[in-house]
Amino acid sequence: MCGIFGYLGKSDAAPILIKGLKKQEYRGYDSAGIALNCDDNSLYVVKKAGRVSQLERAVDFSVKSCCGIAHTRWATHGKPSDENSHPHTSGDIAVVHNGIIENYQYLKDKLKNKGYKFNSDTDTEVIAKLIDSKYSSGTELIDAVLYAVNKLEGSFAIAVIARGVNEIICARKNSPLIVGFAKSGYYIASDIPALLEYTKKVHILKSGEVLQIKEDRAELTDFYGNKLKTEIKNIEAESSDSELSGFESYMLKEIYEIPASVNRTVTSNKDITDFLKNKKFNHIYIIGCGTAYNAGRAAESYIENWSKIKVTSTLASEFRYDTRLCDKNSLAVFITQSGETADTLEALKAAKECGAYCLAITNVENSSITHIADKSLFTKAGPEIAVASTKAYCCQVALLTLFAAGFAKAGGNNELFDEVCSELLLETNRISEYLEKQNVSILAEKYKDTKSVFFIGRGRDYPLAEEGSLKFKEITYISSEGYAAGELKHGTIALMDKNALVVAIVTKSDMVDKIVNAVCEVRARGAKVVVLSTLEVEARFKDISDDVIIVNGGKFPTIAAVVPLQLFAYYTAKIKGLDADKPRNLAKSVTVE
Ligand code: F6R
Repeated sequence: MCGIFGYLGKSDAAPILIKGLKKQEYRGYDSAGIALNCDDNSLYVVKKAGRVSQLERAVDFSVKSCCGIAHTRWATHGKPSDENSHPHTSGDIAVVHNGIIENYQYLKDKLKNKGYKFNSDTDTEVIAKLIDSKYSSGTELIDAVLYAVNKLEGSFAIAVIARGVNEIICARKNSPLIVGFAKSGYYIASDIPALLEYTKKVHILKSGEVLQIKEDRAELTDFYGNKLKTEIKNIEAESSDSELSGFESYMLKEIYEIPASVNRTVTSNKDITDFLKNKKFNHIYIIGCGTAYNAGRAAESYIENWSKIKVTSTLASEFRYDTRLCDKNSLAVFITQSGETADTLEALKAAKECGAYCLAITNVENSSITHIADKSLFTKAGPEIAVASTKAYCCQVALLTLFAAGFAKAGGNNELFDEVCSELLLETNRISEYLEKQNVSILAEKYKDTKSVFFIGRGRDYPLAEEGSLKFKEITYISSEGYAAGELKHGTIALMDKNALVVAIVTKSDMVDKIVNAVCEVRARGAKVVVLSTLEVEARFKDISDDVIIVNGGKFPTIAAVVPLQLFAYYTAKIKGLDADKPRNLAKSVTVE
């Protein structure tokens, strides 16, 4: 949700900033801008509605500067437009911001009373004006920024420059911000992959930290100017992990990375439940948003079966209104690829207030959630760049399944745990085989003009249906729903006609008869039907459906079964000429509530 990039060093800043924005464009892509502190002591600002490539065309790369800040936006306050794009300026000040300033209206009114005029509808412009209100009266830039951050309520990661001053000041409250230290200079970004091309040495700003970066040094303080020590970490990832590597899109590449990522996740988490020893829980909550929530639901039955503890899966944005039974005997498991999702972080804080033990399952080491959870476990999907989550979902389901088996292990059943481990690893082989021969693009072509799609399943296939539907609607913009197959006849069947497509999912043999019934019912109303199964059921469905997809799923087929659904969404978007990696109105990391 908005990407920030900054550079101060000896090289030309503009091309570095544009490259940094391109790497982070998945965080938001409705407008972009840069501000350069030029060698001739002027401030050069260009900002444009649209993609980073549009900004790139507008930038004059002959402008000389080795110090600048840049931003790619996902609009919160104010529509995507040139005026609302960042950087926002006031006098000599330019600011880029990720987050939401909750008291911006109050601050705006005060600044207006002081004579400030506003050019945008954003909350961010108040930050620029607030800093300027001190800086223009002769205060040092760092003191003006400290003054401002203490007045701001809400969440923010900001980077600030001032005309003629060769420094960048960054500050963080909640929203992420990372500074890379390299021989060629200092690099600022909202995520680590954007920095890896330049350095693996980073300081991840903590909430409440301010970093003043000058040509020869960087000084860290808290919001009151008290000195702090930077903690430089060495990052293990490779910059090539976030390249396209010959694939036509990140989403397709990431689907093809599922086997390797699940394999890494399983093999690096074999001691997963050591922390469960000597702990007793009477209720487990699984909490997340969107796809992460669906992953929790997909694994819920395994956890309940093997832990013998009641499991409740809840949307993070709803959890805080439903904490009645959450207490010190509860285990709250938070699933988040990015580790930065605001709703999930807020839900975690609410669970902590209830006294629950909070476990984070995330893909990003050192992400915000890892600093507030009692314990963190890591999926090893590697950087996920496409907005629609694919490999991260599969790793989440794998880790949760392993976690579920860990309860059995904690109860002395090592055999089950070992079986689950090896089954999950076998599943990665099966997925690789499937990916080699898959031809889902043919189905996508056949059904591309469908007006509405219903993904249906029962039991553990119901969350799978919801995940298939979420993926489909978010990148194809075709209306779709995930339904419990048995529920159709209680109302939704009214929508079935020749324009509807039903994707019926069945991964459990005791559900086959019921899914046959549902398929017959919708087909009798004219709907087209695609059956997706991990069982040898082609013969059962051949004559009553339009297409049957069989994926070899083994004993824990939930991961294998999602792959054709992801491919179906991907190829449909592609055939419709849509950018599957960057669907409209969305952003990868949702850092606002
Ligand atoms: C959908 C998707 C989103 C995310 C959700 C949570 O394809 O990617 O629904 O799953 O925004 O994000 P994380 O996992 O980063 O908390």
